[in-house]
Amino acid sequence: MSSVLDFRISASYGTTEVLHQVAATIAPGEIVSLVGLSGSGKSTLALALLRLLRYRGGVVTGNIRLEGTELTTLSESGMRAIRGRRIGYVPQSPGLSLNSRLRVETLLDETWRAHASRSANHRGLLESVQLPADTAFLRKRAGELSTGQGQRLLIALALMHGPALLLADEPTSALDAIAQAGVLQLFGRINRERGTAILFISHDLLSVAGISHRVDILHEGRLVESGSPAAVFRTPQHPFTRQLVAAMPRLTLPD
Ligand SMILES: Nc1ncnc2c1ncn2[C@@H]1O[C@H](COP(=O)(O)OP(=O)(O)O)[C@@H](O)[C@H]1O
Ligand SMILES: [Mg+2]
Repeated sequence: MSSVLDFRISASYGTTEVLHQVAATIAPGEIVSLVGLSGSGKSTLALALLRLLRYRGGVVTGNIRLEGTELTTLSESGMRAIRGRRIGYVPQSPGLSLNSRLRVETLLDETWRAHASRSANHRGLLESVQLPADTAFLRKRAGELSTGQGQRLLIALALMHGPALLLADEPTSALDAIAQAGVLQLFGRINRERGTAILFISHDLLSVAGISHRVDILHEGRLVESGSPAAVFRTPQHPFTRQLVAAMPRLTLPD
């Protein structure tokens, strides 16, 4: 098996096609960042890959192969066995994704029970995402966590069953700059230590470039460029990529 994920898909809402033959391959252990502006189709792509787009009213055509298994023809129960187990999904914001009244240990237990693929080691998992692994933390409610802690907890839940691929849709956009840097570093560490392939979706080319092996640029539902971060920064080919690179903030200090 040569790739973790390999897809070519189009997606529509009603008669409007918003993803046009978007294709990519992610190798084992690779971090690929998919960068595009708001509205370019990033979340549509993430939901399409998870075969969840119909819940948002969208239709997907094409092929999606995960570790050699074609997902587009899989039954819903087959997909449920894949979601959360072979693909770990990290959503954008803990505030929208975690029931704020549930305790950390309950969230961990529920996620573990969804597949029960291995013996539960909640404390080890919390440590691996640099969260406190003591009883006081396990007894906290999700609503009592900082946004950064909540995001780390979402990453822990996504990692629980040892997925081959982490699919993260703007996982740092709700965070302040310092928490953002910490979570980005955490993704890099998870990749190095566990070998997990990562599809990292972001609107921010600058912040993802440092952890990515490859950057794919999505513009109006089309992949317009793909390359190493260095190549994309130094020699952007597509006019949109050039615009994106030129628009990146540069620090100029007064004399
Ligand atoms: N449920 C929906 N129905 C109709 N159009 C949608 C729906 N969700 C998203 N869109 C449209 O699809 C395009 C891509 O949206 P989205 O994938 O959310 O972009 P991104 O995540 O890059 O901001 C946008 O033009 C958006 O308005
Ligand atoms: Mg989005």
